[in-house]
Amino acid sequence: MTNLAHHINSSLSKELHAMIYLLGFFAQKKSFKVYAVGGFVRDLLLGKENRDLDLVVEGSAVDFAKYVAKNLPGQLQCFERFGTAKLSLSKGIVFDMVTARQEFYAGPGALPDVERSSLKNDLYRRDFTINTMACALNPENFGRLYDFFGGRKDLEKGIIRVLYKLSFVDDPLRIIRAIRFEQRFNFIIEEETLTMLRKAIGNRVLEKVSKERLYNEIRLIFTEPSPLKVLIRLNEMQLLKVIFPRLEFNERLKERLRRLEKGITELVESDPEGKWNYFILYLSALFYDLSEHDTAYLCHLMRLRRKERLRLFAVLKKTPKAIPELKKEFIRPARLYFLLNEIPLEGLLLMTVLEKNDPYLREHISYYRRELVHRRLLTNGDDLLEKGLTQGPVFNRVLKSLHEAVLNGKVSGKEEELEYLSYLIKKNNMYQETGEGEK
Ligand code: CTP
Repeated sequence: MTNLAHHINSSLSKELHAMIYLLGFFAQKKSFKVYAVGGFVRDLLLGKENRDLDLVVEGSAVDFAKYVAKNLPGQLQCFERFGTAKLSLSKGIVFDMVTARQEFYAGPGALPDVERSSLKNDLYRRDFTINTMACALNPENFGRLYDFFGGRKDLEKGIIRVLYKLSFVDDPLRIIRAIRFEQRFNFIIEEETLTMLRKAIGNRVLEKVSKERLYNEIRLIFTEPSPLKVLIRLNEMQLLKVIFPRLEFNERLKERLRRLEKGITELVESDPEGKWNYFILYLSALFYDLSEHDTAYLCHLMRLRRKERLRLFAVLKKTPKAIPELKKEFIRPARLYFLLNEIPLEGLLLMTVLEKNDPYLREHISYYRRELVHRRLLTNGDDLLEKGLTQGPVFNRVLKSLHEAVLNGKVSGKEEELEYLSYLIKKNNMYQETGEGEK
């Protein structure tokens, strides 16, 4: 009997470790039996931490979740009808709890451990053997590994294998998941599984899945260490054209994605706190050569949220226009600021990697991010009102001129700004008197 307590003690961070012990303690206290299952156990055996814990509860998952939530502050969502609950704690720790189903279709004689039939039944419905292992959390058998389907052996050999013939028909999204895991872990899809997978692709089972579900799965590709590897494999399987119709996966695009991936690695090293959105970043690179019409079509197909669509379009429209100017040796700081201020962060990163060899572009962008975004105007609208200006075009023009002066380093500090403001107002009044004011 294998026990994973040692893995739990050695591979997990202190906070997750503590949470897991507490879960077992709570389960025991309230007479539930709780198991961590799926990706968490797989990753534990690989020596990695997975903060997204799937838990199978014998008894009611909703009741257990409610009890846990009383003791651990977090956000609880219960889905009573499905007997599931989700508890999100701090530091990205999430518990997804499901109630173990009681029924089982094989005769009891077939069960090596009759007592755990509900657990086995739950695990049998899952995607691949490597995701079917369970680890007991109750203190009485804490860390005990349940491996009914040879998951550990497959994990050691690096094999992705489905549990039953119709797995890809039951859940076509598993086709994408198989490819994702294959590429993430550098595993091999087992021969029979691969045959079934190809057959399912041939039968176009993915077309039967709702667009919401399909593209939610597709999003996960862009959280992988190398989305490009997954995209290349999907293309080999003739799936990329199903997922992104109208997109030509040519050498030019692959080269752009290669550069992006390399650029991201460097960026993450230099700016680990960076708040860019990888999904938008990759979509920008993917759709860079597409017409506006085709991009809009794909955005609709993917059910992109409005905010995401706007961000993506801002990148795609504004970056090609900004690049020629950014390649010039000299740009006045204020011009640089107003040029880049309209482009989402993903656009700045994309330009940096696309024009990696340009001697000026990277420097301009980095100067903007390092310096200009911090050069804030200390004067505000109230100061202008106090000086007798009223809201309107003149007001905005004066404010912008003042901001430009600050960005260009012409004035600095509140006192100088106010002085310059008086000068601008005077100049503006002169224009108005001579009729050159508002054009
Ligand atoms: N699962 C499944 N079929 C799916 C999706 C999920 O059988 N289409 C099961 C698998 O057992 C999986 C578990 O549900 O391990 C949790 O799903 P998810 O969190 O998506 O997967 P992880 O295996 O944790 O993968 P990742 O490392 O990408 O988070």
